Amino acid sequence: MRKIIATSALPYANGSIHLGHLVEYLQTDIWVRSQKMAGNECLYICADDAHGTPIMLKAQELKISPEELINKVYKEHRKDFKDFYIEFDNYHSTHSDENREYSSKIYAELEKKGDIVSKKINQFYDEEADMFLPDRYIKGECPKCGAKDQYGDSCEECGATYASTDIINPVSIISNTKPVTKETEHYFFQLNKYQDFLKKWISSETIQPEIKNKLKEWLDDGLADWDITRDKPYFGFNIPGHDDKFFYVWLDAPVGYIASFKNYCSGNNKDFDEYWQEDSKCELYHFIGKDIAYFHVLFWPAMLQGSGFRKPTAVYCHGFLTVDGEKMSKSRGTFFNARTYLNHLEPEYLRYYFASRLTNKIEDIDLNLDDFQSRVNSDLVGKIINIGSRCARFINKDFDNSLANELQNESLIKKCLSRKSEITDNYENRNFSSNIRIIASMADEINKYLDEEKPWVKIKNDDERLLVQKICTDGLNLFKILITYLKPVLPEIAAKVEQILKSKPLDWANIEDILLSRDINEFKPLIMRIDSKAIEAMKQESIGED
Ligand code: 2FM
Ligand code: ZN
Repeated sequence: MRKIIATSALPYANGSIHLGHLVEYLQTDIWVRSQKMAGNECLYICADDAHGTPIMLKAQELKISPEELINKVYKEHRKDFKDFYIEFDNYHSTHSDENREYSSKIYAELEKKGDIVSKKINQFYDEEADMFLPDRYIKGECPKCGAKDQYGDSCEECGATYASTDIINPVSIISNTKPVTKETEHYFFQLNKYQDFLKKWISSETIQPEIKNKLKEWLDDGLADWDITRDKPYFGFNIPGHDDKFFYVWLDAPVGYIASFKNYCSGNNKDFDEYWQEDSKCELYHFIGKDIAYFHVLFWPAMLQGSGFRKPTAVYCHGFLTVDGEKMSKSRGTFFNARTYLNHLEPEYLRYYFASRLTNKIEDIDLNLDDFQSRVNSDLVGKIINIGSRCARFINKDFDNSLANELQNESLIKKCLSRKSEITDNYENRNFSSNIRIIASMADEINKYLDEEKPWVKIKNDDERLLVQKICTDGLNLFKILITYLKPVLPEIAAKVEQILKSKPLDWANIEDILLSRDINEFKPLIMRIDSKAIEAMKQESIGED
């Protein structure tokens, strides 16, 4: 049995979960569920990312404390995840005792190694708000092309990146006043000391080729010291020994993976070191969006290396979500919060659709709303679920719920079972879209078999009644196989099917079990078709959302 930790990026505790986030949580959840079905120990670990300036300012805006804000958002996030059937083994917060302990420990180790240097730097300061300004809180004219209204770190017009102090006519977005420059002492992590380690790490570990190339570019450009300090006021952890300095949120955020796991260990009798010690044999996978690869393939492995922890087995990046081919947009009514979606549509529609689009590539994935509706209605409901309902109807009504004592079409069952290793490999390799294609084409073949056998005609002929029982027993066994293949994607439907078929919990080991000479329960509708009105209503509700 493999012992695996899988993580998704920790969502910020200042906003709602939206469909863009869900690409990742659903990808990870499907992967974890498929590992569990293989009998592996796979622990899905996550947490809210609760620190940083945006969270502090959002709490100020709402006139509540940051703690109140993060507690409220924590509850909302947990409910959204649960309602999408995203099942974490542990969901914690980076604002926790465990995270303070491990962030300080890691920092102390790096300091001991001489990897931390202090430097005096000049930063913009908002005298009215009485705080240093992070780059994103300054706007002004681009020093390269002169475009107005650009952020303090990069220009959206010409793509230039620059130091915030180079921006022309800077303005603080907090108070709308002109900031002054002020000197402050910051602590930096000397990443360049890990140049050789990182070079070796990327060549030996599983990192997608695109990210590997990026990482090589970053390494070739030389690694600058990483500023891990923020001045007060800041919502985060104090740097030990410095009351007015805090860890930058990106230092303690990934440590949140460790901290959440530590939190899991206490209630679950797990040996923390077995999973996190330098030479751990357990596997560790981080699922992340392509925008935060920099933190996960550079800073994070270097921090782990410097402080004597194990490194990730692999970092799996995915692309962004577009809706109808464009960036999600509030004004167009295509920026969907998780809750807005749930107010109108079933979670398993989206699980199925995202699975049908997800590969192991870093390409963006598109939620085309017409395609979403037609894939779900014609493939999932019309082809796959229909096999179960059309066969169970005869078994329930005409055979007193009893399955036949033998099969009619064993070869079709064998054919569907023969794809098992391909399907489990595709889950392992995050090629979910291939699985949905394979399963839909199997459903076509099964429906063709049922259409050719015409049980609705045969049932009228006494000589052929028993044949109908066998054909429908074939159909329900084939249905069981398809639902087992789909269980990581459709856990709720699979649970209902287990109940209808009175089967054991479906998994990879019992997929070959054939159900014969036994009763089933009455078939109840598993999921309805998507009504266009529901999509329209979701769009209407989403206009102007954030
Ligand atoms: O980009 C984000 O949304 C971050 N909150 C992700 C943190 S992932 C990890 F490193 F903690
Ligand atoms: Zn510019």
